[in-house]
Amino acid sequence: MRHRPRPLTEQHVTPESLYLTRRHLISGLLGTGIGLAVGDAHASLPTGAVLHAAHNAAMSVSAPPNSWDDITTYNNYYEFGTDKSDPAQYAGSLRVTPWTVTIGGEADITGPVSLDDLLKPHALEERIYRLRCVEAWSMVIPWVGIPLGEVLRRFKPRSNAKYVRFTTLNDPTQMPGERSSILHWPYTEGLRLDEAMHPLSLLAVGLYGRSLPNQNGAPLRLVVPWKYGFKSIKAIVGIEFVEREPRSAWSQANPKEYGFYANVNPAVDHPRWSQASERHIGGGLFAPRQPTLPFNGYAEQVADLYRGMDLRRQF
Ligand code: MTE
Repeated sequence: MRHRPRPLTEQHVTPESLYLTRRHLISGLLGTGIGLAVGDAHASLPTGAVLHAAHNAAMSVSAPPNSWDDITTYNNYYEFGTDKSDPAQYAGSLRVTPWTVTIGGEADITGPVSLDDLLKPHALEERIYRLRCVEAWSMVIPWVGIPLGEVLRRFKPRSNAKYVRFTTLNDPTQMPGERSSILHWPYTEGLRLDEAMHPLSLLAVGLYGRSLPNQNGAPLRLVVPWKYGFKSIKAIVGIEFVEREPRSAWSQANPKEYGFYANVNPAVDHPRWSQASERHIGGGLFAPRQPTLPFNGYAEQVADLYRGMDLRRQF
């Protein structure tokens, strides 16, 4: 069953049309040389809060974004069920304020940080990224967020920190899917430190100019656009600097099917299906499949990170 998002503050106006109006406004302001104030927009992030973010054209694709309905009703979020419509239907039980992220491991500065303090020094940016799920469907999403690398640097990772491990909230009372044994909970993911520091890696707090709906990973999620979507972990409560490649929830569940790197790669099929093409969500029943691009179209920016690696073996 499809579920429409709850109405937000401005009634009778969809976030998508609001967003298009704001894009127009932003380009108007930029045209006059007046920058947008972006600092204090995120004192806290209740669901549906309007965010003030400057559009980052250099980091955005020009493809038209999917609709608000596509992005918020067709989701993967096993903490709330395995059907695409489950997260929109059930993720309302997650309380996203207040929210604390615990920084741990090989860094000079560690400990709990409120989401407000985590975000405060950073200007919010809007970036339109492609999302390619390992299940061979794709979307284009206008995220609002902050560069992950800038956040990580504040905690002064030590020289032996080679990877970053991310953890989702573990609370079966709020996330009923965590009572099932479909994955080892909490959901975890990881990046090599240089991947995490790459300017494309984003910590997202919103989409379409509003704070994230719960089903999309509120209040804080990762977005790594050149990797399969499962790397983009939702509802992050832990960020840990570690020396060794961390186990991620999906590679723990099935290491033959889901590798640590999970770079989008049309030349390496999933054992059960081809990765050469994808179904673009919203394209309609009869739309032709699109070819999948190496690194999801971001090869020019990220291929150097993997120079000398055998991407068939280290998939
Ligand atoms: N994060 C958590 N905690 N739990 C999940 O089940 N699913 C992943 C990823 N992050 C998942 C998650 C998968 S498989 C995908 S494709 C993306 O979230 C989907 O993000 P979206 O629902 O916002 O499109």
